[in-house]
Amino acid sequence: MSPTQDIDSLKRMAALASVDYIRDGHVVGLGTGSTARYVIAVLGERVRAGLAIKGVPTSEETADLARRAGIPLLSYEEDWSIDVAIDGADQVDPQLNLIKGGGGALLREKIIAAAARQLIIVVDHTKRVPVLGNSFPLPVEVIPFGWPNTARRIEALGGKTVIRQRRGRIFTTESGHYILDLHEGHIEDPAALETQLNRIPGVVENGLFVGRTDLLIVGTPRGVEVQQAARQ
Ligand code: 5RP
Repeated sequence: MSPTQDIDSLKRMAALASVDYIRDGHVVGLGTGSTARYVIAVLGERVRAGLAIKGVPTSEETADLARRAGIPLLSYEEDWSIDVAIDGADQVDPQLNLIKGGGGALLREKIIAAAARQLIIVVDHTKRVPVLGNSFPLPVEVIPFGWPNTARRIEALGGKTVIRQRRGRIFTTESGHYILDLHEGHIEDPAALETQLNRIPGVVENGLFVGRTDLLIVGTPRGVEVQQAARQ
């Protein structure tokens, strides 16, 4: 088995365990990315076997996958009441704070995570880190108008930004924004940085998800590990 196949089986393992938290009648937030893809595939199998749920997708890619898997979807304009959202993450710290947005869907992911009564994060063990940042840049979604100026203001908080590109052109999110990937070493205070970034005019949202995860499900070579958030 190649290392990639190995990681994929760990992602699938976590995805499979997460679906056990979904009940008949649930409205489910559907995440974006390669781990969320496994969640959608397994949910689709359960729907075809009779599970009655509705999904709210965090991206067009996810909406497409869900439709093909037979999962009925609610429209973007509805006032959803989401029971559980299941999503992946790029990094998870011991307090279950996250960096998300590697796939560029962080804005919709954050809206859906905030709307859900329970947020379940599914990852393979390589996503666990003692401190966020360093090996993974923090995605910051900005409006195109004046983005170099916004980038400078972000860098004034520390670190260097790189405008995200795809196939030689600036990457545009589904909401029509750009992403600045912020390389800034260890993020010692994720809550403070999340707030400071969002105060800069031109910043729409950032990929720090602080205090939002309820349950973390990790696929590891030793099996599935589940960690509940400690709430004060
Ligand atoms: C997309 C995300 C994804 O959840 C994150 O990038 C993890 O993806 P994968 O499961 O493919 O590693 O935040 O915006």
